[in-house]
Order: sequence, then structure tokens, then C-alpha cells
Amino acid sequence: MSLRITVIGTGYLGATHAAAMAELGFEVLGLDVVKEKVELLSAGRVPMYEPGLEELLRTHVAGVEGATGRLRFTTDWDEVAAFGDVHFVCVNTPQKHGEYGCDMSYNAGVDAAIDTLAPRLDRPCLVVGKSTVPVGSAARLARRLAELAPAGEEAELAWNPEFLREGFAVEDTLRPDRIVVGVASERAEELLREVYAGPVGDGTPFVVADYPTAELVKTAANSFLATKISFINAMAEICEAAGGDVVKLAEAIGYDDRIGKKFLRAGIGFGGGCLPKDIRAFMARAGELGVDQALTFLREVDSINMRRRAHMVELAREACGGTFLGRRIAVLGAAFKPDSDDVRDSPALNVAGQIHLQGGQVTVYDPKGMDNARREFPTLRYADSAEDAAGSADVVLHLTEWSEFRNLDPRRLARAVATAHLIDGRNTLDPAPWRAAGWTFRAIGRPAL
Ligand code: UGA
Repeated sequence: MSLRITVIGTGYLGATHAAAMAELGFEVLGLDVVKEKVELLSAGRVPMYEPGLEELLRTHVAGVEGATGRLRFTTDWDEVAAFGDVHFVCVNTPQKHGEYGCDMSYNAGVDAAIDTLAPRLDRPCLVVGKSTVPVGSAARLARRLAELAPAGEEAELAWNPEFLREGFAVEDTLRPDRIVVGVASERAEELLREVYAGPVGDGTPFVVADYPTAELVKTAANSFLATKISFINAMAEICEAAGGDVVKLAEAIGYDDRIGKKFLRAGIGFGGGCLPKDIRAFMARAGELGVDQALTFLREVDSINMRRRAHMVELAREACGGTFLGRRIAVLGAAFKPDSDDVRDSPALNVAGQIHLQGGQVTVYDPKGMDNARREFPTLRYADSAEDAAGSADVVLHLTEWSEFRNLDPRRLARAVATAHLIDGRNTLDPAPWRAAGWTFRAIGRPAL
């Protein structure tokens, strides 16, 4: 009989993983402690914007017409414990308030999930952590599981970090570029090979490691990506000082396939719920392990990144003639990246907020992130379109690179603004048509004409 899968925590990661497991052919039961979320998902609806996820969910959720019925959701831990052969733990791990480290305390994520699930596990099963955790957590949680589970050694732990990107969550989950598992036994490896037989059969590499290595793969990967972005942003600083063009520079170094073209887009830097939090938690953990020097460079990565936001504010101030007072600033973009409605630690909103606090009249437009932005920054003004946001603006800031903004008509927008001044904080707009339409066009790390 095919394995039965449960997914604990139905946020971004969990909802996508549950739908993907159903797509791979398994019977899946998703659990969340928030009743409203369970009701929403059970109706085939997703509480966030993620391309393709709602469609995938609706293909499988029991009760939705024409669905396979392989996917259900519940708030009942007993049901989950009785149902699952493999339990994926997908709860989030927030940063501690006022500190760099991860909050692993009770009620804050993985620990709480294990403590609630384990005493109910009275038959053989595998509990698989997917959340991003400080290295050493899996070994500790394995001991906890062994202590609490009535099934004893028959209830085992594995670690299987997730590398999905928001905006590509479905694709990344169904066709991951690698699957990494941290296991303590052959049985655990066998079970995970069975779960992932589909993608592995299609050629996805399957990397088997111990617990600490598997945990570290995740934080190391995100740290590398953050470092790549801050590297190119540091080059942007140099280019601005020396009159160079960082976009050309990135293209040219990217042809070296040891370097590669990806993640070398200079701009206002990285944000979101993962990269900033993960590098800080990684530094905190290295400190606990007595090897803080190994990650001192990440502090620099972080500060280059934060500096980009301040730099954008300065460029905007310059464009406004040295002061924000009495000036109108249009901000295009609120999400931390395109194809997402996520505004957590969004560089765009951070810049918008700073300008607002310094007296500018900021109007924001984002194709999908408006509701979340309004909730986070209720004092900013919001418009229903890029053109409305740009109405009578003294400067337009392009801060999240939605394709919608690449398709804007510079001539049309020029008629809406007070001054045709645009700053591209993401280096994805083509300067030529904007300049041809009479705009003063500046971009981070590129020469101002
Ligand atoms: C990131 C990783 O890319 C995923 O592999 C990982 O699974 C995920 O975190 C996680 O830990 O869960 P995500 O946060 O969705 O995914 O976003 P990214 O696509 O990595 O982008 C992060 C930020 O970097 C965005 O603000 C983006 O605008 C910025 N960025 C990206 C740049 O400034 N320049 C670039 O060249 C690329």
C-alpha cells in the first residue's frame, strides 16, 4: 500500500508541499492549528498569492468538484498521528525578538510541533523536519521524539530541508534541483526514497547526509545567495564612484560559468522571510558553536544589503532637490520580490517607509502586495495602478521588478507626473525608451547621463 503522508503547518512551505505530495500520488492530510486556514484550504483556496498553487490544490482537495480527493486538512493531532506513515513538519521558525537567533521555544514552531505530535505516535513512522533550523536542532529533536513517542525507536526523525523560492514554489517542489535528506538509519533513507521516487526517477539528485550536514546545506545555500547579491551590490557602489556600469559588469563576469549570471542583479538588495533572517540566525549559531569568526563576513553581507536601502533614499532625496518636504514620491512595488504578495522585510516598503518618515508624500502601488502592505504600513498612501501612483509625482521609484512595470508606456506616464524623474532600484527597466520619452533616468550602480 502506498505511503500516507501528513504535513504539519500549512503556511507557504506546508501548503505547497501538501499539494505536491498529492500530485505525486499520495494520500495527504495537512494540519494547521489555525482553524480558519484549514477551512480556507479545505475549500480549495490559498491564503497567499503563489502562481499555480491554488490550481494544484483544487486538483486534489477532497470536496472540490472533479478533484482527486487525495488531499484533506484538519486541526486534529490525533487524526494526523493515526493517519501518517511519514509526517512532514513544515512550521516556521521566527527570529527571536530583538536578537539574531532563531526562536525555537515552545509555541514558536518545530519544538512545539514535535512535543504535540510525538506522544501520539504509537505506530512505526518517520517524522521529517523541513523547516529551516539552527544546526544541531535535528539531533536534539530526535532525542525528544525518542523520549516522548510510545512507538519508541519505531518513530524516527529525518531532516529534509526545502529550497523553494516564493513565486516558483510549485515548480521548485515538483521539480526540485536537488533533494537533501539527513538521516540516522537506512530505513529512514528508504522511506524518503519511496516518497521522492517520482522526482528522483526524473533525474533529481538525491543527496544523503547526516543531520548536521543536511541542516547546514540549507543555511549555507541561503548565505551563499545573500553573499552573491551583496557582492554585486558592493560592485555597484564601486561602479557609481568610478563611473562604471554594474549591469554590464555582471553580464561580463557572468559568462564565466564558475561565477554564473544568476543572482547578480544589483539593486536595493534582498529581503523576504528567509535570506535576511537566515544569515542572522546562522551568525548567532556560529557564535554559540564558538566559531563566530567563520561567519564574520555575513555581517558585512548584511550591512551592504541594508546600506542599499539607505542609498536609494538618498538618490530619491537628491531627485527631489535635497528635501522630501512637500514632495510627492511614487513607489512602484511593495512585495519583497515579483510574483509574490509577501511584504516581509521588503526593501521596497522599507524605502517607502523611510521616505514617508522624512516628510515625503509617498504613494505605493503593487500588483499583488497591496493588502499585506496596507496592513504593515497603514500610514502610507496606496493607489490602484502605477499611473495613479505616479499622478503629480516629483520622482518615481521602481522598487520591485514586476513585469507589469517593464511594460509601462514611458510617454503616457510622463503625462501623469509633475517631473519625469525615474530611479530604477532593480535594474530591470531599459533606460533607452524612458530617456527617449524625456525622463531623467537613474539606476543603482549605473552611470547617470
Ligand atoms: C530564498 C531562496 O532563494 C530559496 O532557495 C529558499 O528556499 C528560500 O529563500 C527559503 O529559505 O525558504 P525567496 O526568499 O523566495 O527564496 O527569495 P529569492 O528569490 O531568493 O530572493 C530573495 C531576495 O533577493 C529578493 O528580495 C530579491 O529581490 C533579491 N534579489 C535576488 C536581488 O536583489 N538580486 C538578485 O540578483 C536576486
